[in-house]
Amino acid sequence: MDHFLYRDGALYAEDVAISDIAAEVGTPFFCYSQATLERHFRVFEEALSPLQHLICYAVKANSNLAVIRSLTRMGAGADVVSEGELRRALAAGVAPEKIVFAGVGKTRDEMAYALSVGVGQFNVESLEELEALNAVAVAAGRKAPIALRVNPDVDAKTHAKISTGLSENKFGVPMAQAQTAYTAAADMEGIEVVGVDVHIGSQLTDLAPFEAAFNRVADLTRELRGSGLGIRRIDLGGGLGIPYARSNDAPPLPFDYGALIKRTVGDLGAEIVIEPGRLIAGNAGVLVSRVVYLKKGEGRDFLILDAAMNDLIRPAMYDAWHDIVPIQEPTPGVERAPVDVVGPVCETGDTFARGREMPPLAAGDLVAFRSAGAYGAVMSSEYNTRPLAPEVFVSRDRFDIVRRRPTYDEILRRDHIPDWLSSDVDPAHHGRDGG
Ligand code: LLP
Repeated sequence: MDHFLYRDGALYAEDVAISDIAAEVGTPFFCYSQATLERHFRVFEEALSPLQHLICYAVKANSNLAVIRSLTRMGAGADVVSEGELRRALAAGVAPEKIVFAGVGKTRDEMAYALSVGVGQFNVESLEELEALNAVAVAAGRKAPIALRVNPDVDAKTHAKISTGLSENKFGVPMAQAQTAYTAAADMEGIEVVGVDVHIGSQLTDLAPFEAAFNRVADLTRELRGSGLGIRRIDLGGGLGIPYARSNDAPPLPFDYGALIKRTVGDLGAEIVIEPGRLIAGNAGVLVSRVVYLKKGEGRDFLILDAAMNDLIRPAMYDAWHDIVPIQEPTPGVERAPVDVVGPVCETGDTFARGREMPPLAAGDLVAFRSAGAYGAVMSSEYNTRPLAPEVFVSRDRFDIVRRRPTYDEILRRDHIPDWLSSDVDPAHHGRDGG
């Protein structure tokens, strides 16, 4: 459930008409609903209670400070994968001990920074990383709390680019090496073993792979405890999928995911950490765009928008489906016709949908891409020197611009022309050529 609904024939974000925001900020822009973010967070809270647990929002899904802030106010921790995300989580007010630092390639500088602020857990993905972290911690006179991310060799049955739990993927320590790695960790002066971590992929639409992975984690936890290691926390990662096509998607419910967690690891008396990103932020955001042209082609029509692959790359990158709806509600029963929905970028990959059945639309009309709150703005770029789309945050009848559109001056000023190119003729070069 989200709070983007039609009211009197126009799409609203909570109590704000999307067209009013468009009039103020221009298009394209991202629009987030606080009530939807909060609702999704609460759904996880309810699904996991009464287990002792911490929901570490995966900041990578949407790292706007307003989004992180709205969640941490409700008690969320954060899952971060870079110093940049860590700084964002801290700036949004997340307590350091509620932050888990994940990622397969943490640098020593990032580790030192994370230790200095006191993050609650490092999710370590290899022996090499463990040794580096130990060295950094010893040098800083600290102990790094760690969970080893194990790779359970489970097929998440999701898109290959976002599947992470197979042994062929770059993630985690193979199950067979876990015991040895833990024993090594326990002997390291700069390391404190606190938990076990797993994450098998994103946009999972079936609970069975989770079940297989969580069972393996439960077995490993018992084994490790049997050999005297104090495993007090189990981090199960993120990955629960969301409905992208409202008409036919029905991914598992958080309630059933919670029940599965209780069934598989609930009796171990450990604190349960989960790292959901998409399910919290995905349907809490839309990308709003304006039709620039309806181009009549040969045998097909193109709806050319002012949003492009640089704003929302998921269709180009994962062949992802996003529902695209007009801001003016179509009259019931109106005839729909197939169009290719595209952006203005000069490559064919800049296509959001092919042959999509759409109601009649004309230049100047507004449309919204649904489910753009996760992996939307965070994956955007300035390709084609298109300014990053601004982000707008709505709560009830208020909205605020939580990241504004950069000006062209700001964009150009980030570049610099080297001195030797600034004059028309380069004398040094001219001289060497003898001409
Ligand atoms: N924890 C770890 C260690 C992760 O790698 C991820 C996502 C999450 C948690 C959050 O997963 P979620 O609950 O959001 O599924 N850009 C892709 C998704 C990449 C996901 C990467 N890792 C997309 O647009 O589909």
